[in-house]
Amino acid sequence: MQRFAIQAAELIADSLGKPFTVEELSIPQDRTHGDFAFPCFKMAKELRKAPPEIAKDFASKIQSSAHKYLSSFTVASVGPFVNFTVTREAAMNAFLPQILEGADCGSFGKLKPGSRGKWTLEFSSPNIAKPFNIYHLRGTALGAALSRAGVHRGFDVVKINHLGDWGTQYGKLAVAFKLYKNEMPANPTIPDLVNIYVKFHQDLEKDPTLEDQARQAFVNLENNEPEITALWKNCVEIALKEFTATYKRLDIEFDHYWGESFYKDLLKPLVQKLKDQKLLVESEGAWIVPVTDREGREIPPCILEKKDGASIYATRDLAAAIYRHDKFKFDRMTYIVGQEQKLHFQQVFGVLRKMGFEWEKVCEHVATGLYRFKDAKMSTRKGNFVTLDSVLEEAKTKSKELLIARTQDTRTQYQDFPGGYDGFIEETSEAVAIGAVVFHDLSTDPARDVEFDLDRVVSFEGETGPYLQYAYIRCLSILRKAGRDADFNPALIARLTHPAELTLVKQLGLFGTHLDRTLNFAKASQLCNFLIDVSKDFGHFYRECHVMGDDPELTSARLMLVESTRRIMGLGMKILGVPRPSRM
Ligand code: ARG
Repeated sequence: MQRFAIQAAELIADSLGKPFTVEELSIPQDRTHGDFAFPCFKMAKELRKAPPEIAKDFASKIQSSAHKYLSSFTVASVGPFVNFTVTREAAMNAFLPQILEGADCGSFGKLKPGSRGKWTLEFSSPNIAKPFNIYHLRGTALGAALSRAGVHRGFDVVKINHLGDWGTQYGKLAVAFKLYKNEMPANPTIPDLVNIYVKFHQDLEKDPTLEDQARQAFVNLENNEPEITALWKNCVEIALKEFTATYKRLDIEFDHYWGESFYKDLLKPLVQKLKDQKLLVESEGAWIVPVTDREGREIPPCILEKKDGASIYATRDLAAAIYRHDKFKFDRMTYIVGQEQKLHFQQVFGVLRKMGFEWEKVCEHVATGLYRFKDAKMSTRKGNFVTLDSVLEEAKTKSKELLIARTQDTRTQYQDFPGGYDGFIEETSEAVAIGAVVFHDLSTDPARDVEFDLDRVVSFEGETGPYLQYAYIRCLSILRKAGRDADFNPALIARLTHPAELTLVKQLGLFGTHLDRTLNFAKASQLCNFLIDVSKDFGHFYRECHVMGDDPELTSARLMLVESTRRIMGLGMKILGVPRPSRM
């Protein structure tokens, strides 16, 4: 609908005789009033007349103009507004051909690759010595969704995973790996790393020299000492193997796994540069940079080098930012990271600003909230540590129950599935579980905490992932039952005259607009809500309009609409990372 918004704005500007932008248009609350509205308050004030009177006059002025875009709209005044309604013909002809072009999900709303600049997007970034916490799903799901939406809307996206793999605690881990090597299984996993880390801390109480050993180990690591480096590498590989399996399960890929360690050789020169620039100040043996936030308010200083000369988290982030800019010359860089790191990013951005990097302006920290569990069993789990895997397993068990309850009476219908009925249950429950958990996470505002109530999250009703999957499958099954292709035939568009059809088409036409909002606000909840609205409008259309009636032409025309809905929903779900099962 964006193109119509632009047309309406141009129509208004020409009638006003002065500039008027799309952003100044409002969207009527009640969609039956129109698609866009021009509020007349400002004009009324200037002309000292009542707004409804102005609206009436302005509407007739537009109507009597011979503007080239007038044919796209019906224009009418309602109270203080001039409302613009895209005509049935204009909307249908603008959207249906494009949506139905190409194969599978088509490429509706897709913009030329790279046409909107370079976007460096950092997300997920778990720490290697711990299992993948559910809490890391926040940034992971959002980052993946934003990256896919970005690519669709013409951004050249670089996806970076800033693994936590460097710092004193990894010196400890490497020492522990050496000490307890013999007690570990042949193929250690992340929980084994956790165990030796815990054990190390227990032994530390008996032998305080271990603390110094670990500190020294990290200094040695930073100096590329071979033995400790080999031990550390082992740990990274163990963790990465598990993380990549998790990403595969979620269908997520990264362009670069550049953990904190990746920047290790850039740290000393960076600290030197800061000293040369006279930005570093010594404070109790450590080196710090006094900084302000973007509004110029003083905030706690950014510590960049510890007493023992070791680098810290912020040093590595500073080096990473500069490296990424050197390499990609990004137009935007986004860090999706928990809100507890807000100050950290303010400090890093503050140092970049002091160093004179103009591009600091296009760096942003998208802060994410936590997870809260309704189910006491989950929230009191050992060490208060809930893994993503455990949540997915619970969701999968629940999905299985629900699926079996719905399908067991008709189980013979699933025999053609690979693995028969059991195969269907296994594959589909995995898709439903992932769809449920990911959708629920994404539909929560990133900054808010996710309230996790398993029954609600996995439910097939309400605004959930499974509800979307179900709506998608309904389109599929209508098309399947019709037994013929919804081939695009432009001549049949004229047969779509029902208001419910028009509402649905206009809704589908908003896809690009919602993707852009998703990108601008870095919130996938925009897209989640849009897809829910599409399924509701589809439901309404399906109840109001008989798809499989006796008029073959009307049936074909309506099947085109079903296929269009399937495509937009399919594309949207793909972008969100919600799997699309074929039956449910
Ligand atoms: N590894 C960190 C954590 O788990 C997140 C890293 C965030 N990214 C960054 N550039 N500091 O808390």
